[in-house]
Amino acid sequence: MKFIFLTLLVIIGIRDSRSEQYEVVGPADPVFAVVGEDVILPCSVKPNISVVDMRVEWFRSDLKDSVVHLYEDNEDRNTNQSQSYRGRTKLIHQELQRGNASLKLASVQVSDEGIYKCLIQSKSWSVDATVMVRVEAVAGSPPVITVDGFDDSGGLRLQCESEGWYPEPVLEWLNSEGVSLSSETTDTHRNTDGFSVKHTITIHHSDKIHCRVKLRHHMLDTQIITSSNMFNFWRTSVILISVAVVLSVNAGILITVFVKKNRGKFLFSCYFI
Ligand SMILES: *[C@@H]1O[C@H](CO)[C@@H](O)[C@H](O)[C@H]1NC(C)=O
Ligand SMILES: *[C@@H]1O[C@H](CO)[C@@H](O)[C@H](O)[C@H]1NC(C)=O
Ligand SMILES: *[C@@H]1O[C@H](CO)[C@@H](O)[C@H](O)[C@H]1NC(C)=O
Repeated sequence: MKFIFLTLLVIIGIRDSRSEQYEVVGPADPVFAVVGEDVILPCSVKPNISVVDMRVEWFRSDLKDSVVHLYEDNEDRNTNQSQSYRGRTKLIHQELQRGNASLKLASVQVSDEGIYKCLIQSKSWSVDATVMVRVEAVAGSPPVITVDGFDDSGGLRLQCESEGWYPEPVLEWLNSEGVSLSSETTDTHRNTDGFSVKHTITIHHSDKIHCRVKLRHHMLDTQIITSSNMFNFWRTSVILISVAVVLSVNAGILITVFVKKNRGKFLFSCYFI
């Protein structure tokens, strides 16, 4: 008798939690967001029962301790919300009645890209859905080419820099025929405004050189024309410098000889020069 009673209780228990069971559904594909604009991260329960009395938590599963939005005991509780989401999240309470726990995220930032979880908990059931957010490409500043002088072999050093891209762009140097030239040094930095890139190259003869920064459908291009005069100027300078070095070495030798020959008279001679 006792056994049957217990079994009945267990069956009723299962029935109870079964009646509370629901699925949480997120979007199958990543949600694309544009920097500065608002985006909705879809999440709903199936069947569409009300979640007004449930706990709805949005968090980043790719970051530690990152509460995006918390709704509990019939209200928003955002004291522990991650700093970067402050004042930018909203759950529509009328929508919660219809089983819709979609989150509205205002003025999207580059750092919003990531993996989100929408966790919906009732007293006896807890299940979540994943929402991938991808921030759309942002074009940065037009590339700036700086002429960084000649190296020892007469090559002209060029540096190209561009900032504010997201995600990381591709920078390439091209000559006037559109042939890609390989960069000597490459440098990429990431900060809150996105990625900045800096590449250098050394060229040995006059040409029209392009520095092109590309990301998906964005492309920015800057060109520099190096005239043969620049390279001639370098050669002339090198020749002049060599001549000057030879002359001063000669002068040094002459002075040494002069001083050696005229020890004691040197100061005297100088006065008359
Ligand atoms: C915030 O975090 C603290 C410490 O983890 C916790 O005690 C408190 O209940 C949290 N507040 C909310 C609203 O969840
Ligand atoms: C749930 O969905 C059905 C069919 O899509 C709709 O008729 C019903 O009104 C919805 N219930 C709520 C509470 O929105
Ligand atoms: C869910 O709510 C959001 C607003 O938070 C709304 O944009 C969206 O259309 C709703 N989804 C459905 C299926 O009603």
